Amino acid sequence: MTKYIAVAGKGGVGKTTVTALLLRQLIQHKPDVSILAVDADPNANLNEALGFTVSSTISDLLEETKNPKAIPAGMPKDIFIEYKLQQSLIESNQIDLLVMGGPQGPGCYCYPNDILRRYLTTLGENYDYVFIDTEAGLEHISRRTIPQIDIMFVISDCSARGIRSAGRVYELIQGLKSSVKSVYFIVTKTTPGSLNALEGEIVQTKLNLIGDVPLDPLVTEQDLAGRALFNLPDNSISVQAINSILQKSQAI
Ligand SMILES: Nc1ncnc2c1ncn2[C@@H]1O[C@H](COP(=O)(O)OP(=O)(O)O)[C@@H](O)[C@H]1O
Ligand SMILES: [Mg+2]
Repeated sequence: MTKYIAVAGKGGVGKTTVTALLLRQLIQHKPDVSILAVDADPNANLNEALGFTVSSTISDLLEETKNPKAIPAGMPKDIFIEYKLQQSLIESNQIDLLVMGGPQGPGCYCYPNDILRRYLTTLGENYDYVFIDTEAGLEHISRRTIPQIDIMFVISDCSARGIRSAGRVYELIQGLKSSVKSVYFIVTKTTPGSLNALEGEIVQTKLNLIGDVPLDPLVTEQDLAGRALFNLPDNSISVQAINSILQKSQAI
């Protein structure tokens, strides 16, 4: 059975960093698993954290399929859309990546979205894990483009405003029609004593805090150099923190 793991929270809190490091640790513990990573944030940057180059996103491809002239003569539209979706999958040894891309333009997308939903459901079944780096509004999950979530990590940075925003994301999750089995809270970029100072805010969200990821100068360094996070050393504080979170969440 495929395990669906999603990472949610507002922009800039560390979702992509957490997703990339969870993937890094998962592969380290289970080198043989097959993983599909889905970058569902319009501000896509998971590819950079993983060291992939992206040529076109699903949004770009679906936009193309709206032009009747783009469809080869005699080819049914649904077959054409599926063919385009298959083209957008970026494959590597252990992780395949799908990038959803920016918001869809004006007009009706119900039809391509229906096909995307069916495609993602079928595609997901081919993998042991599907990891989704989501956008704050959880649109793909509320539209059920992504069928079900086993574990949802809600991320906040180390600020009272960030924690309150994570609380609102949690409310959104509870209102979703899709099934989300377990929800865990992660606070990132923490400094000594900061979690204690935020304890009251954390309690108010009713989220289940599974751990924090300290502010790691090595993450900043990799980011400045534009390097993939897979290059971080095993003993770096962020890698160790994510490792313990992964084990506690029973994702593996
Ligand atoms: N634990 C950490 N230590 C240091 N910097 C971090 C940490 N987590 C995230 N960052 C930095 O914060 C910024 C936003 O992180 P990112 O993962 O891109 O957030 P999001 O995907 O939520 O927008 C990036 O510059 C990233 O390098
Ligand atoms: Mg991101």
